[in-house]
Amino acid sequence: MKFSWKGLQRKPHGNRLSDNQIVVNRDAFVCRRELSMPIVSITDYTFPSLDIEESLIRAAGGELRIGNDKRVEALKRLAADADAVITQFAPINAEVIAAMQQARVIVRYGIGVDNVDLDAARARGIPVCNVPDYCIDEVADHTLAFILGVTRQVVPNTLHVRDGKWGLATPLDQLRTLRDQTVGLVGFGRIGREVAARLAPFKCRRLVHDAFVPADTVRASGCEPVSLDELLAQSDIVTLHCPSTPQTKKLLNDDSLGRMKQGSVVVNLGRGDLIDSGSLIAALQSGKIAAAALDVFEQEPLPLDNPLRSMPNVITASHIASASPKSVRTLRETAAKIAIMALRGEPLPNMVN
Ligand SMILES: NC(=O)c1ccc[n+]([C@@H]2O[C@H](COP(=O)([O-])OP(=O)(O)OC[C@H]3O[C@@H](n4cnc5c(N)ncnc54)[C@H](O)[C@@H]3O)[C@@H](O)[C@H]2O)c1
Repeated sequence: MKFSWKGLQRKPHGNRLSDNQIVVNRDAFVCRRELSMPIVSITDYTFPSLDIEESLIRAAGGELRIGNDKRVEALKRLAADADAVITQFAPINAEVIAAMQQARVIVRYGIGVDNVDLDAARARGIPVCNVPDYCIDEVADHTLAFILGVTRQVVPNTLHVRDGKWGLATPLDQLRTLRDQTVGLVGFGRIGREVAARLAPFKCRRLVHDAFVPADTVRASGCEPVSLDELLAQSDIVTLHCPSTPQTKKLLNDDSLGRMKQGSVVVNLGRGDLIDSGSLIAALQSGKIAAAALDVFEQEPLPLDNPLRSMPNVITASHIASASPKSVRTLRETAAKIAIMALRGEPLPNMVN
């Protein structure tokens, strides 16, 4: 016999049950907690379905609960009795974490964990795990697509032909040769290194700033380790591959954009809040920054009236650089498997707190 939390919570108050019935229900409640299926709550997702997760979690004897509301109160309700929580973009802040009564893990569908309050989770003893390696090639490929898209003016020329025109879509000096460019990579982790490796055959100069990776590691891959100031001052193209942390938020702002080369290019596939978008828009309008290629934004979805949607010198995507059939399947399977490992009390991989 199965009893639901909801039934138990409502009946004693709403239906004026007799003492006897309440006692029966209390016994049932105890039974449920002993025999019950552990609950995996998924706060939000952008996939067409959750069939992969559902079959894995069911096969492991778990019950799947699905949320579709990123507001804090709804998240608190969904997470309250979950044994494992999987989240994509919903804000799992200290309040939501405080509402978790028995969560044994919070799993992020992705690499960046900036939507989860790691300190609050640590304080509650709840491990946070990510999926660190599901989309490295996809994001690195997309970065090259963005860099080449800008340097070879792929989008304006496509629109030019589609518009019935012929010849150069932009002034000649906007067509750049990657061999003659200096590309500055901020962040030399899994993705940054793959971007650097993909850039090598194009023969451009490659500068790297990473706050934690030793200079020798950077040199071993044929890149030049530099300070952030040097990178900004010398790069024709700056591409961001560091996480969003208190140290990196608004890394590109009025001041740092002002220190970049006149007519340089900004590429961001890291996180939207690495850039102060107002500062970037102003720099694009003034010509200080010649072009930008952006997969991530301070506010997502990007508001319809945001100028970045329509500026001719900006190419965009809607936070999809990680996507491919293989990467999405790996992401979903891995997240579900980590949740199941937590339900079973097994040691967890990819803990980030
Ligand atoms: N657009 C997308 O769809 C997408 C997909 C995956 C990841 N990402 C973003 O890309 C980021 C990088 O991913 P990754 O797999 O390479 O992560 P990673 O952890 O392997 O590498 C991040 C690197 O950034 C460095 N770093 C940290 N703080 C820094 C600072 N203040 N200055 C300079 N470097 C700093 C770290 O030392 C590390 O080497 C993720 O954090 C995530 O935000 C975006």
